[in-house]
Amino acid sequence: MRIFVTGSSGFIGFHLVKKLLNDGHSVVGIDDHNDYYNPALKFKRLSLLNSNNFTFYETDIKSLNIKESNFDLAINLAAQAGVRAPQEKQHLYKHSNIDGFKSFCNFCKKNNIKKILYASSSSVYSEIKEGKFCEATTPLKPKSKYGESKLSNEIYASNFIKSYDASIIGLRFFSVYGPFGRPDMAYYAFSKAIKDKEIINLNNNGNMYRDMTFIDDIIDGIFGAIDYVYSVQNKNEIFNLGNDKPIKTSDLLNRIEQIIGKKALIKPNKTENEAFKTHADITKAKNLLGYDPKVCFDVGIERFLDWHRHYENI
Ligand SMILES: NC(=O)c1ccc[n+]([C@@H]2O[C@H](COP(=O)([O-])OP(=O)(O)OC[C@H]3O[C@@H](n4cnc5c(N)ncnc54)[C@H](O)[C@@H]3O)[C@@H](O)[C@H]2O)c1
Repeated sequence: MRIFVTGSSGFIGFHLVKKLLNDGHSVVGIDDHNDYYNPALKFKRLSLLNSNNFTFYETDIKSLNIKESNFDLAINLAAQAGVRAPQEKQHLYKHSNIDGFKSFCNFCKKNNIKKILYASSSSVYSEIKEGKFCEATTPLKPKSKYGESKLSNEIYASNFIKSYDASIIGLRFFSVYGPFGRPDMAYYAFSKAIKDKEIINLNNNGNMYRDMTFIDDIIDGIFGAIDYVYSVQNKNEIFNLGNDKPIKTSDLLNRIEQIIGKKALIKPNKTENEAFKTHADITKAKNLLGYDPKVCFDVGIERFLDWHRHYENI
């Protein structure tokens, strides 16, 4: 297949493109290599995607103007990720996520791409006291601008296919982690701070839970979604891709301390725009995508730390 992937130098994009190329597909990727986190990591990932079957353009998704066509499938991963973007980058939630997604959809329509996947997020859900986030029943009420931008993508997608005969699948990812991961995410930031003996601003005293999902499981889920989107016509669907086993943030920190063999320096911090708990109900993805996450947190975090040791050269 010939596949268009946005955000191909990002954490998930990189792992996805690598597997697509390994499986013999041809991929066109785009990324703007912005400095939300150190672009050196984005360039490193890009350098590992060297293949005759991969074409890359450094460009902004909002003004997509590449001269490529004949795609079978398009996958949108480019976004201002994370709920905690600094003030000066907050406008990117609109620019890259809301306007960028519209531009991506227009590109699909212009190029007659009928099979489309896009990244949504667990951040679209409202806070719930008990139970799991379920696609069909849990109310949607984002606590952050980031979550709002992802919810607006889902609404846009549902309207988009009313006037365009395509199938579009949104994937709500839950705290994805692993090698080549994002330095802004807690597991990465904690690991680096412990090694560098820097202070960790620990939000809500570590009393939060995240459904930590290993990158290989997410990639399997995306592959399940590719098969699914080919089995349906004119569909708009949403799937949770999580791990169904939330990890308490203080336990995550303790586990990293144990593996590295050093104590963290902690400063308590309060935060308002983050969910207390994320917990995916993955029944729908299991039934329709064959999704079946396999990597438990203890194994996954060791794999991340092995990679991190080499990457940070410590
Ligand atoms: N990693 C997670 O835990 C997680 C959870 C929920 C949702 N998501 C979503 O999954 C997708 C991939 O996330 P990720 O963790 O790989 O993040 P990432 O930041 O590593 O990857 C996103 C990539 O998009 C690129 N990008 C951003 N704005 C762009 C623009 N205007 N034009 C072109 N490229 C642009 C960035 O440079 C980056 O390389 C994102 O949509 C994110 O919101 C991720």
